[in-house]
Amino acid sequence: MDKLVIDGGKPIRKKPFPSRIMFDKREVKVITEMMKKATKENTAKYLDRYAGPQVDTYEKEFAKFFGTKFATAVSSGTAAIHSAIGALELEPGDRVITTPITDPGTIMPILFQGLIPVFADVDFDTLNLTDKTIEEKIDNKTKAIIVVHLAGVPCEMEKIMNLAKKYNLKVIEDCAQSHASIYKGKYVGTFGDMGAFSLMSGKHMTSGGQGGMIITNIEDYYWKAKRFADRGKPFGIENSKGNVCLGLNYRMTEIEAAIGRVQLKKIKRIAGKRYKIVEELRVGFKNLKGFSLWKRPQDSKPNYWFCFVKVEQEKFKFDKSKLAEILNREGLTIGAHYVIPMYENPFIKERKTFGNSGYPFIPYAPEIEYRCPIAEKALNSHMTLYFNENWGKKEIEDTIKIFEKVEKFCLK
Ligand SMILES: Cc1ncc(COP(=O)(O)O)c(C=O)c1O
Repeated sequence: MDKLVIDGGKPIRKKPFPSRIMFDKREVKVITEMMKKATKENTAKYLDRYAGPQVDTYEKEFAKFFGTKFATAVSSGTAAIHSAIGALELEPGDRVITTPITDPGTIMPILFQGLIPVFADVDFDTLNLTDKTIEEKIDNKTKAIIVVHLAGVPCEMEKIMNLAKKYNLKVIEDCAQSHASIYKGKYVGTFGDMGAFSLMSGKHMTSGGQGGMIITNIEDYYWKAKRFADRGKPFGIENSKGNVCLGLNYRMTEIEAAIGRVQLKKIKRIAGKRYKIVEELRVGFKNLKGFSLWKRPQDSKPNYWFCFVKVEQEKFKFDKSKLAEILNREGLTIGAHYVIPMYENPFIKERKTFGNSGYPFIPYAPEIEYRCPIAEKALNSHMTLYFNENWGKKEIEDTIKIFEKVEKFCLK
């Protein structure tokens, strides 16, 4: 422990942290069998969802797993959010309250539907929306809320659903980072009107690269989301003469669904392991002086996606970017910054939407300004620590030792 690696010292961790291998012989088997069959008979059966059984079956299994009545598979998490918003059939200019700390995939569908995103502030300790921060932003144009269970940590859904009931607002839960996270004994995604999932390969489970799913107990939203995700086809409507609404082609493919079905069988184990790893890291982090982990609500069991690490910068000789560089050189995978607040992105700040029209800000909200001071402060004071379910005791111990070492050399 003579020096930091960045200064020529020896690393605590001698070999790299285990990589995240998500696939095993089970995925290989189903895909190989499908492709072998596809060389001998009608190929469409193995590719397009209307020709084969995989997507329909995946939807049923997904709904069963989460305990909802319905599930609709789509091509990405963004497509899931878009189709869920489409299903609400809101009017252009209606307002949707959401969080500034998320992926643009939560926000862009709002604008594509001619709706105005309204950013509510977050709780500093969880970086999530709360009923209180949402309520501050409700006005007579507000029609819906999109909550994001960030990094796997559930929002306090009971309070948020009570608020939604009070103001008659629809709720979409963005579960792109929180597959099988539990709040008060229930999976997130099952509290609101609809839950939307990303199944891209960086997430807790994947449908083989890209994919998404919408779950709901409300039959009307199920059909509307399904129609939206396939160019307004009249699913669930008898004797229709044509396509009944605008929509896009957001269909999932058979191969994606076949992979997704195998992955669904693994999610409980992955969620359990990820929870345990972070809870053990929390114990080690308690002894640190300048770094700490973000919080989770009581009575929650997150399927953590990554860890937010709070840095009390005034205690250190270096800023957050330098500390992240030092930690990376010691062998961890750390991001110095998560995202910028969504409203700082040019597509919002410079109204880069539909040509030069500024639509839908023009004409519906020319005056709107965004500022969420707590979210800004939270983003400025947290780093992201990446881990995966293949970590064991040694990885947890080494991570704590690395943070201790960095504190030893970098605290003032
Ligand atoms: C919170 C959140 N919402 C939506 C998305 C969009 O999902 P996708 O990349 O599958 O379109 C992501 C992707 O990272 C996300 O993290």
